[in-house]
Amino acid sequence: MDAMELSWGARCAGLAFFGFTLCMAALSVVLLLVRRWPWCSCHVCRAYLTRSWARDFTNLGDWYAHLLRRSPTGTVHVHVLGCTVTANPANVEYMLKTRFDNFPKGKPFASILGDLLGNGIFNVDGTAWRHQRKMASLELGSVTVRSYAYKIIAQEVETRLMPVLADAADRGMVLDLQDVFRRFAFDTICKISFGLDPGCLDREMPVSELADAFDTASRLSAMRGAAASPLLWKMKRFLNIGSERELKKAIKLVDELAAAMIRERKKLGVSNSHDLLSRFMASTGDTHAVDDKFLRDIVVSFLLAGRDTVSSALTTLFMILSKNPDVAAAMRAEAAVGDKPMTYEHLKGLHYTHAVLYENMRLFPPVQFDSKFCAAADVLPDGTYVAGDARVMYHPYAMGRMPHIWGADYDAFRPERWLTGPGSSFVPASLYKFPVFQAGLRVCLGKELAVTEMKAVSVAVVRAFNVEVVGENGRRAAGAPRFVQGLTASISGGLPVRVSRV
Ligand code: HEM
Repeated sequence: MDAMELSWGARCAGLAFFGFTLCMAALSVVLLLVRRWPWCSCHVCRAYLTRSWARDFTNLGDWYAHLLRRSPTGTVHVHVLGCTVTANPANVEYMLKTRFDNFPKGKPFASILGDLLGNGIFNVDGTAWRHQRKMASLELGSVTVRSYAYKIIAQEVETRLMPVLADAADRGMVLDLQDVFRRFAFDTICKISFGLDPGCLDREMPVSELADAFDTASRLSAMRGAAASPLLWKMKRFLNIGSERELKKAIKLVDELAAAMIRERKKLGVSNSHDLLSRFMASTGDTHAVDDKFLRDIVVSFLLAGRDTVSSALTTLFMILSKNPDVAAAMRAEAAVGDKPMTYEHLKGLHYTHAVLYENMRLFPPVQFDSKFCAAADVLPDGTYVAGDARVMYHPYAMGRMPHIWGADYDAFRPERWLTGPGSSFVPASLYKFPVFQAGLRVCLGKELAVTEMKAVSVAVVRAFNVEVVGENGRRAAGAPRFVQGLTASISGGLPVRVSRV
């Protein structure tokens, strides 16, 4: 035998070995699926697996809301997902406050989002979470950061958002308002969090590599959570194929761009900067010694926290205002200050606008559902037994559509339902009935900031423009918008609008 025959023989043996290994791996997956997949043929599981719910409902959340309305306890089980879904406020309080330690995010959640979020605040429990929560709440609660953030918001509205809308109004062109708000929220959160300006809402509307990679990564990470078995995505990740290959590429890009941001921040110095990243770096002592992976996880968490949530709420708000011009007119009347710009104090006093924002988020919460894992077997206040390691999901989107929480007119957009205080002032609902910002020990740390940002934008826009939804999403005016699967809600096809000056 010569050398060529030898190497050919070796290659054949290698290929045979590879083929055999692949077959064995596939066989193990099938065996594992058969052993662990909770096959179930109840009507809920059948409808979930065959997607037959889509015949009658626009979104999965609408179907869940329908099931939960019909359940006497406000709780249902999706056995194939190993998941209990609840819209019962007593259960929500029990999980998020009373038995907080027994309902952590858990390992399955950490592994679904771990590649994207690392050990950032959203993805950890226990000591790691407590440490970041303390640091973040100190900074987000400080007067210096608040006034720095407000200055940035006001500047972004004045110098970027309003000129883009004025331009669209003058040219009579149709604009995707969802895209505009995502660009606005991305620029704003990057400036507040890292002191750097990606300039996404510049007139030329440049493509942002970071924003794009971040979108792809969060969409594909959310897809993992919806899979009937984690084995499916774990196998795809192992083989580096399909959506997992795409996710890996997107996360690599996010990592590179976050690293560039951190390098830039370190180069610029942190001592006189008020952005959150600089303050985190300064509070940990030697700036150059801070672990870059820790900072990378902070960067990604704050992008996730502050960008898509705010833009999602603003998008659905203008979709609703387009159908309710009387509400837009009432907001305009409340905010009348002549030609003077709005101050922070003035914004705080806008009770009607506050009610409009909350009523919008009741029907269209930016984070439509949230899951916890039950550490040790437990019984929820409505009598539901939850096994150890099982997933429990509370569902703000469905909860906003429950007659037992909001009354028979739950599907009507009625800001007045929030104005029950003295002199028709705004009164918040219990966060366990309205867990749009979560509730209990892990309640959102950016709530005040988000409300200020949404007030500043909505008031500036309604004072200057009429916004009318056009195109397909306008024609669907009577029905629910279709949401894209993701960590935060975004409308499929965007929100095409025509803007005209008031
Ligand atoms: C309308 C806008 C917003 C909504 C609806 C919202 C909603 C939420 C929700 C549902 C959670 C819980 C997530 C989970 O644990 O899985 C959360 C947590 C959090 N949010 Fe927000 N958020 C908004 C804006 C913001 C902004 C602008 C910031 C800050 C810049 C922020 C910072 C945070 C942080 C740091 C946490 C983690 C809290 C913890 O785990 O202890 N949020 N938010």
